[in-house]
Amino acid sequence: MSFRNDSPPAGPAPFRWGVATSAFQIEGATGADGRTASIWDTFTRRPGAIGDGSTADTACDHYRRMPQDVALIAGLGVDTYRFSVSWPRVQPGGRGPVNPAGIGFYDRLVDELLAHGVDPWVTLYHWDLPQELEDAGGWPHRDTAYRFADYAELVFAALSDRVEVWTTINEPWCVATYGYADGIHAPGRQDFPAAMAAAHHLLLGHGLAVSAMRAAATRPHRFGITLNLGNVLAVPDDEAAAEAARCADGLNNRLYLDALVHGRYPADVLADLAERGVALPIADGDMAVVGQPLDVLGVNYYFDATLNAAGEVRTGPLTGLGWPVTPSGLTELLLRLSRDYPGLPLVITENGAAFTDEPDADGYVEDTGRAAFLQAHVDAVDAALAQGADVRGYFVWSLLDNFEWGHGYGPRFGIVRVDYTTQQRTLKASAHRYREIIAGRRS
Ligand code: FCB
Repeated sequence: MSFRNDSPPAGPAPFRWGVATSAFQIEGATGADGRTASIWDTFTRRPGAIGDGSTADTACDHYRRMPQDVALIAGLGVDTYRFSVSWPRVQPGGRGPVNPAGIGFYDRLVDELLAHGVDPWVTLYHWDLPQELEDAGGWPHRDTAYRFADYAELVFAALSDRVEVWTTINEPWCVATYGYADGIHAPGRQDFPAAMAAAHHLLLGHGLAVSAMRAAATRPHRFGITLNLGNVLAVPDDEAAAEAARCADGLNNRLYLDALVHGRYPADVLADLAERGVALPIADGDMAVVGQPLDVLGVNYYFDATLNAAGEVRTGPLTGLGWPVTPSGLTELLLRLSRDYPGLPLVITENGAAFTDEPDADGYVEDTGRAAFLQAHVDAVDAALAQGADVRGYFVWSLLDNFEWGHGYGPRFGIVRVDYTTQQRTLKASAHRYREIIAGRRS
C-alpha cells in the first residue's frame, strides 16, 4: 500500500479540497460490534441536555452506509475526507487491546476512500470520550492524557500504512469549556478549575500521542491538532471592551497556540487565571511535550466575535444558529497566524454554516445562503494566500446534515441533505457549487 500522493509532482504541494465529518455525529450503530458508551451517549440521555431531545443512536447511519457515502464524497471532486475515529469503538472502555471489529470499520473506510482516489485525514478525538474514562475523572484527570496516547498508538498501528495526516484532537477549547465549565456539552460538568485542568491535559494528550506516533512511524507522516479559532474584536473606544477582548482572545486562542507553538502559556492568561484562583496543573517536562513541532495546524473557522464591556454583540448577517457571517475575519485570522506563528502550515479543517433549509418534493435544497457563505470564505482564503499566508487546504463542514451536539438534528450544516426518516442523501445547491469551485481551481 502507498499513500496516494507518495510521489508528489515537483513544485509546491497541491492545495487540498475536502469535506469533514465526525464519528459521533454521523455513524449511529452505537451498540454495534463491541462499541461501548461514550460521554455523548450518556449526555444525550440526560433530560433537557439536547435541544430536541434526540440521541445519536442512528444519526446518519453512516456505519452501515459507508460505501455509499464514500461514493458521494468522491462525486464531489474533493481529494481529502476528514473523519474521526470513535475511541469506544476501537478501544471499548478506553483501555486495553484494540477491538478488531471496531477498527475494521475504519480499515474498510480507508481502503474505500483510497480506491476512490480520496485521501483519508484522520482525527483521533472528536469529543467521544469512553464513559469509563470520564468515570475515572475525565480530562481534568492527568491519566486521561496517557490513555489517549495509548489509544492513538493503537489506531496508528492499524492505519498508518495508508493514512498520511493525523490530527490528534478537535477543538480542545470546546471540549474543556463547553464540557467542563459551561456544561452544555458532554460530560456536562460546570467547574471552571476542572475545565482549565482539562485544557492542559488535552494539550498534554496531544503531545504524548504525537510523540508515540512519531516514534512508531516508519515513513513520513504529518501530525497536527485542530483548534477552533476566531478573532475577538472590541467595539471602538471602549477600554473595558478592549480588556474583555484581550482576556477572551487569551483564553480561546493564545492559550492553545502559544502552548503548542512556543511551548509556554501566555503570561497574561496565567495571570488572569491566577486572579480567579486557578493554576494549570503543569508538571515538569509537560511543556516540551505539548510544544513539540507541529507539521500542520488545523483551523476551524466559523465567525469572529465582537465584544462590548457586557459581552458579545451580534449584528449584521447571521446564520441559522445566529452566528455572524464574517468572511473577512478568516483572511485576518490566517494572516495573524502567519505573522504570530510563522512557519506553521495551515489547513482550514472546518468551515460552513447552518441555514434553514427548505427541501422541495424530491428533497432538493436550493441553499443559496450556504453556497454564498462557502464562496465568500474560499475567496477569503484566496485573499490570505495572496498576502502570503501559508494555507494548504480547505474542508467544508459538513458533508452531511448530522447530529449537531447540544442542538440535536435541528441545525443543518450539510452540503448534502439527509432525510432522517429514509436516510436518503440529496446533494444541495451548495454541493454543486462546491464541486464547481474545486473543478475551477484544478483546471
Ligand atoms: C465545530 C465542531 C463540529 C460541528 C461544527 C458546527 O465546533 O467541531 O463537530 O459541530 O462546530
